[in-house]
Amino acid sequence: MTAPILELEDVSAAYSTYRALFGVSLVVPENGIVALVGSNGAGKSTLARVVSGLVPASGGFVRFEGQDVTKWPAHRIARQGMVHVPEGRAIFSSLSVEENLTVSFSRRVGRKQTPEALVRAYHAFPVLAERRKQLGGTLSGGQQRILSLAKVLAVPPKLLIVDELSLGLAPVIVDQVYDGLLAIHGQGCALLVVEQQVDRVLAIADRAVLLVKGAVAWEGPARDARSTLESHMLGGAAANGSAPFSTNGSHPAARRVVPSPVSPGGSTSVPPPPGAVSPGAPGPGPATHGGPPAHGGPSGAGGTSHPSDLWVVGPNFPSPN
Ligand SMILES: Nc1ncnc2c1ncn2[C@@H]1O[C@H](COP(=O)(O)OP(=O)(O)OP(=O)(O)O)[C@@H](O)[C@H]1O
Ligand SMILES: [Mg+2]
Repeated sequence: MTAPILELEDVSAAYSTYRALFGVSLVVPENGIVALVGSNGAGKSTLARVVSGLVPASGGFVRFEGQDVTKWPAHRIARQGMVHVPEGRAIFSSLSVEENLTVSFSRRVGRKQTPEALVRAYHAFPVLAERRKQLGGTLSGGQQRILSLAKVLAVPPKLLIVDELSLGLAPVIVDQVYDGLLAIHGQGCALLVVEQQVDRVLAIADRAVLLVKGAVAWEGPARDARSTLESHMLGGAAANGSAPFSTNGSHPAARRVVPSPVSPGGSTSVPPPPGAVSPGAPGPGPATHGGPPAHGGPSGAGGTSHPSDLWVVGPNFPSPN
């Protein structure tokens, strides 16, 4: 049996003294699509950063194609074929769409193979082909987001991690983003999709993982996720005391649930035991989670901005070190 493309085993992470992830285990099978959902501040972006090497794990293991990459720097992981597109967008405003793509692609694969990469990008995102001569800065916000995603696709990645690609985008642009993701997936790339609009991502995912307060609260087939998440969300307060995640633009509250381990390639995990949903029950991790960050950085729970050095990491970007 081949190793999964990505495997997290008991991964923890912290920002200084602030613990953000607690013993997270999950698997992305080869060519699979896994949805990572959860409230604001649940730790989704942190998990994505740990996987791609931007934030060090304080415990546990990250394996990429069966290889332990836990302590690897981000650029080394990226070179292996893992692309992480963080929240936000990163483009050159004064360059055209095609120039933006060409700069990125030629840096990564050289000028000779750039035309091939352009064809691939335009195939995945036809809107970019239509606007190839337009300046990046004059694209709509959603089109800029699409361009930032296309820029990291110089070579077909083995694993693409996307973080909140649909945030604030009009539905028609979200459709284009998701069509593009599926086109990339169609080339044999596994996807780990961080998303608050769970309906969107569950429509394309094989499996879903719910993070609550930095721990896995539920994992299972995407087709079962909708009802399971709804049952977790009914009635209670948001799981981390901050904004609950959205299913379709509405904002139902989430109830606290107890994490259960995720078995590799595994079956649906067990719903929380009856006592686990009490709002007063201990959370899935130590009490430090949910406290104020120990030092500056992105805005806290509920915020969506992140440091600019976490903007885009991929095989075509220079080493951050
Ligand atoms: N650089 C940082 N320094 C300190 N704390 C941080 C830092 N980055 C994130 N955090 C904290 O870690 C927790 C998890 O943040 P993270 O960004 O992973 O959440 P998220 O699930 O991606 O949330 P959102 O849906 O709002 O993007 C939050 O409480 C956040 O305030
Ligand atoms: Mg985030």
